[in-house]
This record gives sequence, structure tokens and C-alpha cells, in this order.
Amino acid sequence: MTLNKDLINQIITVTSKAAISCYNFVGKNDKKNADKAATDSMRNEINKLKINGEVVIGEGELDEAPMLFIGEKLGAGGDLNLDIAVDPLEGTNFVAKNLPGALSVIAIAEKGNLFNAPETYMNKLAVSNNVPIDATDLDFPLEKNIKNIADSLNKDVKNITACLLDRPRHKVIINKLKEMNVKIKLISDGDVSGALMVTDKKYNVDIFLGIGGGPEGVLAASAIDAYGCKFQGRFIFDNDKDILRAKQMGIEDLEKKYDLKEIIKGDSIFCATGITPGDLVKGINIKDNKFITETLVTHKNSNLCKIVMREDTIRT
Ligand code: FBP
Repeated sequence: MTLNKDLINQIITVTSKAAISCYNFVGKNDKKNADKAATDSMRNEINKLKINGEVVIGEGELDEAPMLFIGEKLGAGGDLNLDIAVDPLEGTNFVAKNLPGALSVIAIAEKGNLFNAPETYMNKLAVSNNVPIDATDLDFPLEKNIKNIADSLNKDVKNITACLLDRPRHKVIINKLKEMNVKIKLISDGDVSGALMVTDKKYNVDIFLGIGGGPEGVLAASAIDAYGCKFQGRFIFDNDKDILRAKQMGIEDLEKKYDLKEIIKGDSIFCATGITPGDLVKGINIKDNKFITETLVTHKNSNLCKIVMREDTIRT
């Protein structure tokens, strides 16, 4: 197994340290520097690993961001060639405003197995694995998806919960859901976490849908793959710059709907460490001069989906 236990532990270290690096920015109304702290930490930590990594999902392009950019090479070298998707700080508003749900997130796969896409929006659909895979589709009318989910779960439509970002662009969907009497869980930000709400009954979400960040979609897809749930996404290339970048990256069909297996193939590791407390994991705590962090870890090949706690001594 190439993506082994040691590597899993190393990736947990990477997201835990990136999360900790944001701790001093919680509630400081400074999105930019919080993001920078997480990014710098993530780059430093990945560069210590004996891997040949390349960022395939990152924050912008080389010319526009001091962030981990698409195409950036990471790692100290070695035989392990990896694709890396990063979101060092998912939920910049959450950290800035001291609100629940901020995470530091990474997904990795063997070279060529993780979708390489520019930073654009994506129309997404995620559904629990209790619903047959063919019962829903990004291209089905909303009513059909909801009805099929209700039938599969033997539930009344009024007891189905749909989660989506609270954005004006979702007005039509929200109105339709209201009309159908579906329960709506509107999130203000953080749709990696939103999409992962379908992975466990305890979150009470049957379907995640709507338009959010493409990078966040690819990251969520890698965890959703490990849980055996459904994910589909369609990137939105609606301006000349994005269309050009997509073509340069080899995307020919700009309208293509991607199934999970086209976004992430083979083995993968996903780690999301909590910064502020959220639905998936607790936020950073301090106890006995240590940072206590929680990380949601998935590893596809070993069917690992669990929360790992870590302690890091606070150095002054
Ligand atoms: P940031 O952490 O980069 O601020 O992203 C937060 C987020 O809510 C993502 O989870 C989501 O995919 C995206 O922003 C939605 O974008 P927008 O706020 O433009 O609708």
C-alpha cells in the first residue's frame, strides 16, 4: 500500500499544525493573515515529507496568490508521487468572526488520480449511501431527486433535509424546497463540511446541493469516496479567463458533469482538522500547555473514517 499509515499520520500533522497556526487569528477579523498563517504552515510541513507532491487543487494561480498555487511542487523528494488538494483554511469568515466550522483541509492521491481544476465555482450534489446511486442526479429536476430520496429512505418529503449555502444564487432552489415542504439547512459558509453532512445519519442531512467552490467540491469528494456516498459536480466556467484556464488545463467539455470516480480515483487520504468547533470535529482546545486538536481522517483503501485527537505542546 503506497498511501500507508505513516503517511496518514504525517498528513494529520500537516492539517493539525496549519489549524493551530490560525489559533491566534480566531476572532481577529483578519481573514487574509489567518489564511496566510495556515498556508505558510501547510507548505512548511508538507515540504518536510519524503514525497514528490504537486498541488492540483489550490488557491489560485502562481501570478495571483501568495498561496499554495495550482502546479506548485511540494515535498522533500522521494519515490512517492502524489497529487495534493489543499484548503489550508476552509472558512476564512469563521476564523475572522470566531464562528463555528473553520477547518484546515487536505486530500492526497497518487499522481494523476485527483482532478486538476482551476479555482472556479462548482454545482454540486452529495447524497447519503442509504440512497441507491441512480436515484439522484445533478441533472434531475429537484423534485425528482427529493422524491426519489424520500421513497428510498421510506420517509415523508417533509422529513427530508437538504443542506446548501445561504446565497442569493440559490433563491430558486430554496423557494422550491420550501414549496415542497423539505427541511432546509442553510449554511453561511464552509461547504466541504456541508457536503460531508450526508456521510452520517447523525447529521440529519439527506442531500447537499447547490453552487460552491470547485476546490471545496474536489476536497469533499475525496472524503465522500471513502464513505461510499454519492457526489457529482459540474464546474462553472462563465468568464473568458476561466474558460481559457480550463482549456489550458486540458478540460475540453466545459459543461461536463463529473461523477465521483472522475474526480478522485484509486486510493486517497483526506484530513480535516477543526479550528473553531464545528459539526464534523471540535475546534482547537488548550489544556496543560498543549493544543488539543481533532482531525477527521479518511483513507479509502483501508476503509478508515475516524476522528483522531492530537496534542501539540505550546512553545513560547
Ligand atoms: P473561504 O474559506 O475561502 O472563505 O471559503 C468559504 C466558502 O464558504 C466555501 O466553503 C465555499 O465553497 C465558498 O466559500 C463559496 O463561495 P462564495 O462565498 O463566493 O459563495
